[in-house]
Amino acid sequence: MKGREALVYRCQQCGFASPKPGTCPDCARTGVYPALVEERVGGGPRRAPRAPHGRPQPLGEVATEAGKRVATGLGELDRVLGGGVVPSSLVLIGGDPGIGKSTLLLQAARALAAATPPVLYVTAEESAAQVRLRADRLGIGAPGLLLWAETDLSAVEAELAELQPRALVVDSIQTVFLPDLESAPGSVAQVRECGARLLGIAKGLGIATFLAGHVTKEGTLAGPRVLEHLVDTVLYFEGEQHHAYRVLRAVKNRFGSTNEIGIFQMGERGLLEVKNPSGFFLRERPRDAPGSTIVSSLEGTRPVLFELQALVTRASFGTPRRTVLGADYNRVCLLLAVLEKRAGVPLGSQDVFVNVAGGGRVSEPAADLGIVIAAASSYLERPVRDDVLVLGEVGLTGEVRAVVGLEARLREAAALGFRAAVVPASNLDDGARFPLEVQGVATVDEALRALLP
Ligand code: TYD
Ligand code: MG
Repeated sequence: MKGREALVYRCQQCGFASPKPGTCPDCARTGVYPALVEERVGGGPRRAPRAPHGRPQPLGEVATEAGKRVATGLGELDRVLGGGVVPSSLVLIGGDPGIGKSTLLLQAARALAAATPPVLYVTAEESAAQVRLRADRLGIGAPGLLLWAETDLSAVEAELAELQPRALVVDSIQTVFLPDLESAPGSVAQVRECGARLLGIAKGLGIATFLAGHVTKEGTLAGPRVLEHLVDTVLYFEGEQHHAYRVLRAVKNRFGSTNEIGIFQMGERGLLEVKNPSGFFLRERPRDAPGSTIVSSLEGTRPVLFELQALVTRASFGTPRRTVLGADYNRVCLLLAVLEKRAGVPLGSQDVFVNVAGGGRVSEPAADLGIVIAAASSYLERPVRDDVLVLGEVGLTGEVRAVVGLEARLREAAALGFRAAVVPASNLDDGARFPLEVQGVATVDEALRALLP
């Protein structure tokens, strides 16, 4: 008999394993009941190749790899990685299908192939010809870039000693498989085992390894979630399908901060770095239009200016509608209620639509006052001056509360030509000097008087 074979039933969402079939008790707590899938495990655990064992040593003498980072040629990606990729690190790039993961990885592979050849790009999803077409479109013809359409990870592993790549891209982790495992590619067992094998490769052979994985932030797709604890860095690539704007966010990073984000724009010839995101979001801003305000949202440590738009129209019948794009629906409803109750703007019979222009997303309370003012401005048909930034969190009693990072936000606004800002009064008590004219307000009512006289 070859090893010990056993039958387990595994949850495809969270990886829970049980000797009996049924639904997953772990996921049941979150209100979903995925069925456990039969899986044959045999021959004991497979071992990934390991780095040679060492001895304990004084902390100060431990060699670090952080100094040997390699630039990927995409400044925004390097920023999120913490200043380039660390050799022998394992990086997972997750995101919805079609968001641009393959494009990002191919563009990164180009510069890596120029800096530290060779780079091996394993495409397990598209044919080599398809990737070649994309590379042609992106103008990539690096000689140090090796392309291989292969789904069998053990075949890839066997070639690595020969090829000796300095960086490896596996696109995607759901489509590669290990033939000695019985479950299908993309199943939790395969994804986890392939991930562990690739970790061994990255650490053992010192290859910087990138994995693409289809997953949304909520982890709706099985697989990559189980990889998160395994890999060194998890980046999510997000954006609206029909907008060019893409954000790369670190949710875990053993070699850098998780506060940084990278901003890209998907164009005809691949991903372009957006060095000035505020300018990108404000480029089509209407002048002197009622219902539009500019707010600043901290994306990681970077302040980014967004245009918020509100449209308030008389409801034709029944319950008035609230439609929100790019902001939190419940938060907007709360703010509209505050506007009605504390500032006497009667919205009970009005439909309200709120949108962040350009496909952006604001999730910070600092944008509250901007939402309130945009709705009031649309209701009153009176524009807010277009060179004013509006900042402040709004509480249920109509008070305007302090925001963090005020100075950085004001500096960004001043650099883009804004002349004034309406900010929480409580942010101002230390007598600091600001690069633009600043007016403090303590309540929504005061803000309305300041901005919509
Ligand atoms: P892709 O990198 O294949 O996404 P993923 O690997 O995340 O599934 O990118 C897919 C989308 O990007 C596709 O809809 C076409 C678009 N795209 C461009 O708009 N311009 C380009 O230069 C490229 C290469 C892709
Ligand atoms: Mg792809």
